[in-house]
Order: sequence, then structure tokens, then C-alpha cells
Amino acid sequence: GTVPKRPAKEEFGDLVAALPRKHQAGLELRLYQGFWLPDHWVAGTVVFQRRFAPRPDDVILASYPKCGTTWLKALAFATMTRDAYPAPAQHPLLRLNPHDCVPFLDEIFADGQEAKLERLPSPRLMNTHMPHTLLPESVIAGCKVAYVCRDPKDMVVSLWHFLRRRQPELPFAELFEHVCDGAVAVGPIWDHVLSYWRASLARPDRVLFLRYEDLLLDTGKHVRRLAEFMGRPFSPADEGAVEAVVELCSFEKMKGLEVNKKGSAGAYHAMPRDSFFRKGVAGDWVNHMTPEMATRLDEVVRDKFRGTGLAA
Ligand code: A3P
Repeated sequence: GTVPKRPAKEEFGDLVAALPRKHQAGLELRLYQGFWLPDHWVAGTVVFQRRFAPRPDDVILASYPKCGTTWLKALAFATMTRDAYPAPAQHPLLRLNPHDCVPFLDEIFADGQEAKLERLPSPRLMNTHMPHTLLPESVIAGCKVAYVCRDPKDMVVSLWHFLRRRQPELPFAELFEHVCDGAVAVGPIWDHVLSYWRASLARPDRVLFLRYEDLLLDTGKHVRRLAEFMGRPFSPADEGAVEAVVELCSFEKMKGLEVNKKGSAGAYHAMPRDSFFRKGVAGDWVNHMTPEMATRLDEVVRDKFRGTGLAA
């Protein structure tokens, strides 16, 4: 029989209460193992670290928020399910937002809903915003993790538009300062990116490192890499299948779907579904920050990436 568990917030309440805290951009943050986590995620993260039961064929999609999570979820889900839905018109991504197709671990653990994960059929596809260093040991040792990163300048712009859906008064300059200071949700962003970069160098078979900008330039090429990495390679001749995935998940296609125009996604505390599809381009930062701001953030990041082999 199952023993009723204490809610994580109660069980790890003392641990959370002892952590450094900041209130920024409308969020309560706690410094946990070097990263500023939203306060309401911390206890769940501890449970994730200690009790997550990985399966050998799990695939975890990882990202810093606003760096291409929704797109990566759609591409990976479409790739994994391509044989189950040979008729493109029947594909679930036409009826469901990508966040309703791929469960979001951080929120599931924060809400004490982890039993849901046990019920998922294998192979499971899940996503997280946790840095690599905070993933459970068992995941690091045994699961495949695909990570997507993005120019931090475009990330800030995207994050600002996203947060403004809930806080219309949030000044861009204020959020920008927090990003440069590193004290922003799951930040510092450079440590987040570096955690996956280092892991991908150490274990390329376990950690795939993708860039949003590369995906924009040649989506098909990176979908092939992703498919191979996940153990579901496209046959070299099957250009049509790759194209079908790229097309199904394209920004225009996804943004134009009825399901993504209204209502809210189950994940992300019910953010409106259309808030995940804004502009979908690289370089929109020029419309929001001064050249001085851009240089400042670039220099912070370049400085942190120096000597790591990662180009800022
Ligand atoms: P912009 O705000 O710059 O447009 P996340 O999914 O991690 O929350 O990131 C959201 C960003 O990805 C948004 O960037 C959004 O428009 C973009 N995006 C969402 N779906 C996309 C897709 N299918 N193709 C390209 N970009 C996409």
C-alpha cells in the first residue's frame, strides 16, 4: 500500500526558509545550489533531486526560460510520435499546445503531482528549466538531455514581453538589470548555459547542446541531430518526414492554430497559450535596448564564457 506523503512544502519548509531570498520582477526568488529559483519551486526541486525515478529511455528537454522551450518541445514530440500519427492532419500538436503534450517537471514537482509521471508510457518526454548541476544524479547518469540556448539579449526581450502579460507595468530596464546581476529566475543565465555546455562536452551521448539561432537557420538539420540523439533517427532518405516535423512545428503554423490563439496552457501557471508565440526571430533586441545595454550584457556573458570554448 502507499503511505500518504507529506507535501514537499511542509517536509522541506525549513530548508527553503533558510535560503537567501530576493523579491525581483514580481517573483519571490531563493538562492539554491547557486541558482535563483522561484520560491514555490524549491521544495519540489528537492523532491525531484531525491526521488525522481528515471527510466533508461527518458528524454529530458532542458532550457533557460524564453530560449526556445516551446519549439523544442514541439519538435521533439513530433519526432518521437511520427510513426504513431502517420496522417499529419491527426497530429495532437494541431489540437494541443506543446506544453500540454510534454510535462513540465519543475511545476509538476512544485505542485506535488509527480504521480502523474509514473503513469506516463515509455519512452517519456519531459522538460525542465533546472540547470544541469541541479538535475538528479540519476538523470545525469542515466537519461538523455537535450538543451536549447539563445542569445541572452533576445531572451531578456522575450522574457519581458512574457512577464508583462501578468505585470503590464514592469519596466524593461528593471528586468535588464536583474538579468545582468544574475538574480533572475533560474539565473544566472551564463551559469545555466555553461552547466549544459560542460555536460555536453563531457558526455555528448547524454547531453545535446542546441542553439535557437541555429534552429532558425536550418531547422531540418538540427531536427535530424535531435532525432538521432533521442535514438529515433530519420533514415537518410526520409527528407519528407523531417520536413513534415519542421512544418508542423514552424512558428507560423503553431501561432496560427486555433488552440494556440486562446485559452491557457496547463503548465506555467496557466499562462495564455498565445504568450508562447510572439515574434519567433533572432535579433529583436535591437528594438528594445540601447547599444550600450547590448554591449554591457554581451561583455558580462563573454567574460563568463572566456576559456570555456563556448562563443558568446
Ligand atoms: P520571442 O518572444 O522572441 O518571439 P519559450 O518557449 O522558451 O518560452 O520561448 C519563447 C520564445 O520562442 C518566443 O520568442 C517565441 O515566440 C519563440 N517560439 C515559440 N514557438 C516557436 C516556434 N515554433 N518557432 C520559433 N520560435 C518559437
